[in-house]
Amino acid sequence: MTAGTNAAGRAQIGARTLRTDRWWLQPALTVAALVAFIIYSTIRAFANTAYYAPPYISPFYSPCLTTNCVPGAGDVNLVGDWWQLSPALIILIFPLGFRLTCYYYRKAYYRGFWASPPACAVAEPHGKYTGESRFPLVLNNIHRYFFYAGLVFNVILTYDVVLGFRDAQGNWGHAGLGTLVLLLNAAFLWVYSLSCHSCRHLIGGRLTHFSRHPLRYRMWTWLSKLNAQHMRYAWISLFWVAFTDFYVMLVASNTISDLRFF
Ligand code: FES
Repeated sequence: MTAGTNAAGRAQIGARTLRTDRWWLQPALTVAALVAFIIYSTIRAFANTAYYAPPYISPFYSPCLTTNCVPGAGDVNLVGDWWQLSPALIILIFPLGFRLTCYYYRKAYYRGFWASPPACAVAEPHGKYTGESRFPLVLNNIHRYFFYAGLVFNVILTYDVVLGFRDAQGNWGHAGLGTLVLLLNAAFLWVYSLSCHSCRHLIGGRLTHFSRHPLRYRMWTWLSKLNAQHMRYAWISLFWVAFTDFYVMLVASNTISDLRFF
């Protein structure tokens, strides 16, 4: 191997790492959690059932844009009759692309799935390193566009929260446990988006003088604090979006009934 830790000029150390802690634990947990989410979300995206329990809609199926959506689940049928598969498959590309190209998740899955590198100060098995300069990883550079799309979805999911303040017949001024679940889902997704590296750059990047942009500087300072916790928000929002779908599925399939507050 001529690259990486064994490249010419580097200290010749026979061991793969000198770390004695359980450095493998974090990448292993990352793989387990991401695989669990991928399996669950794939099953639910293809299920095409139990995604609407009036007034709640699963975030996996919102906005529901096809003519085969269950009645009441979507008012805007942008997609014609030709689409007969699950409506979730039309929209999931955007949240999926947002997460796949996320700076934090890139680090997580490069380490967890490809061991590139598996952890700090642990040599990677690959002989050469091309970074994100070639296809397909070069596509990770379009993250900012998925960020913009993610904002649109956040607005839609926030609108779903507003719709959640109705009862099953459509009367306003009601709320249930599902409303709270949807509300937390939208809130976590907003925090995840606002803590995004692209968002931070959008607000405070490419400025020569912060002093001439006091408002942007203030917002950048605030977003930087959120950005420092981006990993945490990535996991919380990922877990909660799956839980929100799970809750709606349980109510829609009459497995449980929604706890009504008022
Ligand atoms: Fe993670 Fe943008 S860096 S969502």
